[in-house]
Amino acid sequence: MDLGVEQFRLDGRTALVTGAGRGVGAGIAHVLAAAGAAVVVNDLHADRARVVADAIVDGGFAAVACPFDVTDSDAAKGALAAVCDGRAIDVLVHNAGVPDGGGRPNRFVDMPPADWRLQIDLNLAAMMSMVQVVLPRLLENGWGRIIQISSGASSRGLPIGVAAYGAAKAGSEALVRHLGVECGPHGVTANALALGLMEGLGRADDPKVEKMIRQVPIGRLGRGTDVGAAILWLCSEAGGLVNGQVIHLNGGTVFGR
Ligand SMILES: NC(=O)c1ccc[n+]([C@@H]2O[C@H](COP(=O)([O-])OP(=O)(O)OC[C@H]3O[C@@H](n4cnc5c(N)ncnc54)[C@H](O)[C@@H]3O)[C@@H](O)[C@H]2O)c1
Repeated sequence: MDLGVEQFRLDGRTALVTGAGRGVGAGIAHVLAAAGAAVVVNDLHADRARVVADAIVDGGFAAVACPFDVTDSDAAKGALAAVCDGRAIDVLVHNAGVPDGGGRPNRFVDMPPADWRLQIDLNLAAMMSMVQVVLPRLLENGWGRIIQISSGASSRGLPIGVAAYGAAKAGSEALVRHLGVECGPHGVTANALALGLMEGLGRADDPKVEKMIRQVPIGRLGRGTDVGAAILWLCSEAGGLVNGQVIHLNGGTVFGR
């Protein structure tokens, strides 16, 4: 009986993961490569991109480092042309979303315009320009997947000084809804994965991390590989039914527990 599991393979596909030099993006890059994709590992920091691409290649899979700043679309076009050798990007995962240095959480009343512009540039404007860089070839090929990595901060108020970040992520979610309608008829879907609390924010026995875990009903934080698995589903034929959606990957988190 053919259960269709092969549809979760990505052989012959090229996937670009932005901000994949560490954290969630690195996990996504490893999963997509293990499923057969040739992965273009982007990061602002060339050394980070190289370390992740090298680890994937050492594991027997295909990857290439492609450092550029996602807020600079000319740099993106040039860097992609240099590594892709005419091949189209089939899957765009726009994961870069935390400004270099971490961004400065702040009450909005105190937030300097340069800080909130940074969030809009990285989480919304860069998403728009990265989509415009890859979309013409996706439409031409009649198949493609656009995946925005978003956050629960897009859909609820949080008392942690992330108003501009949440507003920018909400904008990116609106963008995927419209892209889904525009591009769906051409075989290209667009979706957002809104992440909850993820690993990497400290050691498991750190009281702050223990407190975070208490808020997650499944009793653990998310991992980049969880996000990669969701992306494999979105890339599959069956996952093609999902379009213009925001899917929350957060273990059912209830804040304030
Ligand atoms: N970690 C969490 O708890 C969490 C929760 C919700 C959503 N998210 C989202 O997940 C995504 C990844 O977060 P993370 O925690 O892995 O972040 P991270 O800071 O660990 O890694 C992000 C990477 O993006 C790179 N980057 C930053 N600016 C860039 C730019 N202009 N161009 C190219 N690369 C750039 C950084 O150099 C870094 O290597 C983000 O979109 C974030 O908003 C994370």
